[in-house]
Amino acid sequence: MGFNFKKITEKIKNLKNTKSEHELDYTALPEHIGFIMDGNGRWAARRGLPRSAGHKAGAEALRRITEFCDKIGIKIITVYAFSTENWKRPQKEVKALMGLLSQYLGDAERELAGKNIVIKVIGDITTLSQKIQQQVIETERLTQNNTGLLLNIAINYGGRDEIIHAVKQIAKEVQADRIAVEDIDDQLMSQHMYTRGIKDPDLIIRPSGELRLSNFLLWQSAYSEFWFAKIYWPDFNSQHLLAAISDYQKRTRRFGGI
Ligand code: FPP
Repeated sequence: MGFNFKKITEKIKNLKNTKSEHELDYTALPEHIGFIMDGNGRWAARRGLPRSAGHKAGAEALRRITEFCDKIGIKIITVYAFSTENWKRPQKEVKALMGLLSQYLGDAERELAGKNIVIKVIGDITTLSQKIQQQVIETERLTQNNTGLLLNIAINYGGRDEIIHAVKQIAKEVQADRIAVEDIDDQLMSQHMYTRGIKDPDLIIRPSGELRLSNFLLWQSAYSEFWFAKIYWPDFNSQHLLAAISDYQKRTRRFGGI
């Protein structure tokens, strides 16, 4: 890819409403950013609101951040919407989250009209309601020919679950003599992850003050950079994102080399 000065200048011009003290190099953006959308419950509690109100505000923050990422030229974002462990939450909260996901997927066509965004869902969707499974298929179909930002929504997703799923598939292929044990390597494992064909995340952002990965993209985050902040996800905005990218651009990534 050549350096397209005109395109980049245009992009920076378009950012005039999001002026920032963070000087970014728009030619060296992280290609793939993962977001752990944490802190919705605490955001709501602070306002004396139910947790579901926090998740609703979180879904709004996601809409804003997706659009902003697309605008500045981020190619892929992966967001943690519902983990394999989130089923342990009170039934009322699980229901509210599933309702929001269903609404988001249902609105995707109208909401994303003209936005050129590709939506994919990662995780084990087979245990979700028939309605949501249909909406996932439909949303993926509707957006598959778009050429802009790829939004991966992790639903009923767990990093360990994903690795187990990959190992089982590979074991079956070995059993059927389609591959040899010696063929199992990094690349083959990656090809059996939900994220097959997608670059590993360059940067993983977790707001809310927690400093952990919580089973998010375990395989893919081997060499990701991390950015944590004491902001609740519903308050996460473009300025925070620019700060995270600015920090990211100051780091030296060695991938185990020197
Ligand atoms: C973690 O915050 C957040 C979640 C478990 C759900 C994230 C979901 C959304 C942002 C909205 C739905 C997504 C889409 C794609 C429409 P928490 O509830 O654990 O917060 P807390 O730690 O403050 O309690």
